[in-house]
Amino acid sequence: MTPLPPSTAAGPAVGHSPPLDAEIPTPRTVAMDPDEIAEPRQARAPAPPRPDVSAATRPPALTKPGLAVRLRGLRAFYGEAEQVKGVDLEFRAGEVTAIIGPSGCGKSTMVRCINRMHEEIPGARAEGQVLLDDFDVYDPSVDVVAVRRAIGMVFQKPNPFPTMSVFDNVAAGLRLTAGRSLIGGRRSRSQAAQQPQVEAALRSAGLWDEVSDRLHEPGSGLSGGQQQRLCIARSLAVDPEVILMDEPCSALDPIATLKIEELIDQLKARVTIVIVTHNMQQAARVADRTAFMLDGRLVEVGPTDEIFTTPSDPRTEEYVTGKFG
Ligand SMILES: Nc1ncnc2c1ncn2[C@@H]1O[C@H](COP(=O)(O)OP(=O)(O)OP(=O)(O)O)[C@@H](O)[C@H]1O
Ligand SMILES: [Mg+2]
Repeated sequence: MTPLPPSTAAGPAVGHSPPLDAEIPTPRTVAMDPDEIAEPRQARAPAPPRPDVSAATRPPALTKPGLAVRLRGLRAFYGEAEQVKGVDLEFRAGEVTAIIGPSGCGKSTMVRCINRMHEEIPGARAEGQVLLDDFDVYDPSVDVVAVRRAIGMVFQKPNPFPTMSVFDNVAAGLRLTAGRSLIGGRRSRSQAAQQPQVEAALRSAGLWDEVSDRLHEPGSGLSGGQQQRLCIARSLAVDPEVILMDEPCSALDPIATLKIEELIDQLKARVTIVIVTHNMQQAARVADRTAFMLDGRLVEVGPTDEIFTTPSDPRTEEYVTGKFG
């Protein structure tokens, strides 16, 4: 395993745009969220030639498994207020883990600690350990951009870069994180070199067949469900180990939701998936394991069917049966 690269002085040229969602922090470095990064200059470059989709040039499917994430004594603060209060939890490689719990219990905060988005909020800090495989994500020598490349994030509201084409939306992550891998080599910034990666990401996101003839039209012209899959493609393009999904279907209709759930099922063999959801049926459908949080603490985690049928803690039973939350 390649060791984590040391932190580099300057991240990619990113700017600040006002967050559309107050819950999302304003970053100093790259994140796969257009609320948080300015559109790169390449957005206005001439459209690249259409990718050759013949079988001979089709990129091979990525088959490596994702990596496990382990939280050890994770605590998160906003100023003096402790909102994640010492969580020990493992997200297993090759599995989907759902995080459930009532509003305000710390699900989003905990998830944002995993790829170090939490610390971007003024006054916010985290303690404890987040291990990606054996790497300590919070080690001072670690490049935070590389962390966010290895651990992607998909938000509640689909958020493609509005003025960018479908192609450029997916390629944006490649440009912004070029050369910032935790594991693996450098990436080319050239559009021609990005084509196979963009196509592979769109195929993996189950979107290629719907957009292959409109790659150079604005991403904002897609339906809500397609936009969310575009955002997933944008995360996948940089070949992450883990994708964090914070209520990814809450703005989608049942058919678009089903497509995302099918996608999650296909992706989990090669990307470890953490999904926050308020939808108990969704957790039951997609998650191998489910973790129940309450008031900043992990109450219990286990196989999803056990959490829903025979939980060990009465508070879990009350929550999953709808008695509170
Ligand atoms: N930027 C912030 N500044 C201060 N406190 C915050 C901030 N973001 C969240 N909190 C507080 O931290 C606690 C946990 O919030 P968090 O958003 O993690 O909950 P959640 O479980 O994701 O809730 P929901 O299900 O409503 O999304 C809440 O009390 C919330 O008010
Ligand atoms: Mg939340």
